Amino acid sequence: MGSTTAPAGRPAGPGTASAGSAAGSEIAPPWWVRPGLEIRHGRLFVGGADAEALARQHGTPLFAYDLPRFGENARRFQAALERAGLPHRVRFALKANREPEALAVLRALGRPGERSAIGIDACSPGEVLHARANGWLAEEISFTGTNVSERDLDVLLAEPIHLNLDAISQLERVGRRAPGRTVGIRVNPQAGAGYHAGLEYSGERPTKFGIYEDRLAEAVEVARRHRLTIDTLHFHAGSGWLADGLAGFERALERAVGMARTLLGAGCPIREVNVGGGLGVPARADERPVDLDAYAAVLARHLGPLGVVVGCEPGDYIARDTAVLLGEVVVVEERGGVTFVGLDLGWNVNCGYFVYRYAQEIVACRAPDAPRTEVVTVAGHINEAGDVFAEDYPMPPVREGEIVALLGLGGYAQAMSMTHCLRPLAGAVFLRR
Ligand SMILES: Cc1ncc(COP(=O)(O)O)c(C=O)c1O
Repeated sequence: MGSTTAPAGRPAGPGTASAGSAAGSEIAPPWWVRPGLEIRHGRLFVGGADAEALARQHGTPLFAYDLPRFGENARRFQAALERAGLPHRVRFALKANREPEALAVLRALGRPGERSAIGIDACSPGEVLHARANGWLAEEISFTGTNVSERDLDVLLAEPIHLNLDAISQLERVGRRAPGRTVGIRVNPQAGAGYHAGLEYSGERPTKFGIYEDRLAEAVEVARRHRLTIDTLHFHAGSGWLADGLAGFERALERAVGMARTLLGAGCPIREVNVGGGLGVPARADERPVDLDAYAAVLARHLGPLGVVVGCEPGDYIARDTAVLLGEVVVVEERGGVTFVGLDLGWNVNCGYFVYRYAQEIVACRAPDAPRTEVVTVAGHINEAGDVFAEDYPMPPVREGEIVALLGLGGYAQAMSMTHCLRPLAGAVFLRR
């Protein structure tokens, strides 16, 4: 086993297809089974360890990470870009997971400057410093933040990280403080993709992100006045989009490429188009993953002719399915015709449904493929009615005291945890199979 650390939408689909129990028929494993997340002897195993035993040993709530999965996800992503023949730079969006154990896996994939290396996408000065402390060189870090202050710039301008500026006022500010610097600009292509419309960052509804096309000429003029060289165009279409979001992403990309051409025409030496992150990971059996080769083909079709390096900054794609969150069932009770399953954890350590409306899959550790014969609402221990993880959700019968695993929580869940209601943070174990 690895090390431990002390505690420091779219409407939900119909849940997993039931494992069924017809005598003699071949039973398909649940959709989420893979190396590192398995059913052995009828019990859930994570990273090679029995999930319930981990929970009993370390206490709940507990994040259980299958560490090798970070590397597998990153390599699969890079391999698709390679197959498409694209010059690329993959940078992990640090906001998704900043645990040193996870970062060590990604760091080990390649040394600075190597094609196989994974860089870092940072969105705050704190993330830049954290990446530096965990082994990344300044040159490997790309910063794309929003509403950046003078104090932020004190840190950001001190090192040769690459800055993508997302407002004309930022160009003014950086231009005044660091004339002659090479920068990128984040644009808003006014087309987006997301798990649902609320997670589109650059759709029809104006958002706080990026420079819009109608002000591109102004951006170029400000850069020129301060002798800033614009060498990168960045956009992020939105978060959590799946197979059906690829068309929206492509629309955003098309418009971004149009803006890149405008910049090239204005004399900006655009060397990289950074297409952000946002690729989602299925949370339920009925969600379809993005086909990475189809994604890479879209990138190649639109960016190949520009001859630029393609920058990608996936967070969830690399981190999400690396961990489960283990919790204890503390209440099973009917209220107003609804069966509530209450857990000893809250949205303070798993805000995916509360904040983003991501669907949540939950399995019983002692019988992860048991038929889902009940329909329940699974709720947490924060004193807020919205503190639920799954509603009208098919589950096998569970009892007080048993351990359940909430799947797909290696991205954002631990990073966004807080001690709301003075509920403690969850512990974490990092397993190496
Ligand atoms: C600019 C930028 N890049 C990358 C990401 C990572 O997104 P994801 O984890 O959905 O891949 C985000 C997330 O909000 C972002 O805003």
